[in-house]
Amino acid sequence: MRGYLAALKCVLSRPQWQTATARRIPVARLAFAAMPMRVAVCISGRGSNLAALLNALTAEAPARVVLVLSDRPDAAGLALAAGRGVDTAVLADPADAGEWLAHLERAAADLVVLAGFLKLVPGSVVARFRGRMLNVHPALLPAFGGPGMYGARVHRAVLASGARESGATVHLVDEEYDRGQILAQERVPVEPGDTPERLAARVLEAEHRLLPAVVLAAALAGRPVALPSRLELSR
Ligand code: GRF
Repeated sequence: MRGYLAALKCVLSRPQWQTATARRIPVARLAFAAMPMRVAVCISGRGSNLAALLNALTAEAPARVVLVLSDRPDAAGLALAAGRGVDTAVLADPADAGEWLAHLERAAADLVVLAGFLKLVPGSVVARFRGRMLNVHPALLPAFGGPGMYGARVHRAVLASGARESGATVHLVDEEYDRGQILAQERVPVEPGDTPERLAARVLEAEHRLLPAVVLAAALAGRPVALPSRLELSR
């Protein structure tokens, strides 16, 4: 993971990148630059992207997972988080904005990451965290996104379309499914004879590289920023 950090620091220190982002770094974050960015991760199931984030955010990283929220009490990622000493909470009613905000405010979350979270986030929560809420999607948005496009359905649709490549996208969350500003993408080839399962596994590996890279870049910049499209992530 040191490799990620070194690569991101190098990219973010380039003059053109600094002039593009410097004006958007909140003064408060500069004043507290030594404090890690506090990240809340929302999951609905297995939590492999959560695991990738926890592995990436080592003690010296500029971000830390402080809360894992789930809409499902049986989400496997909750046990994973608890085993790593991270606070967890289950939303009794995922449509209740007050419940969301109480959890996020108690955790003093700076950034919210939807990592395999399948419910729509209430509009007032999106508004409160506008520009500070990310989602990882298992295709190259804007293609193969939107309502109902999740899990195996995405990969089935990619294969049915005859597309030669798919990939992973990390984007900002707004009021519509999968439509917020794209921050980073990694392309993945569609191989001859692919099944939805094989394609999903290949895309998931890309998600596990891309999501930590975007979170680390956000922590370094003070807020989510688009990664250069040619950034090479170590495998
Ligand atoms: C990932 O492919 C994610 O992009 C999608 O659902 C899957 C969740 O995987 N939305 P995990 O729970 O992170 O293992």
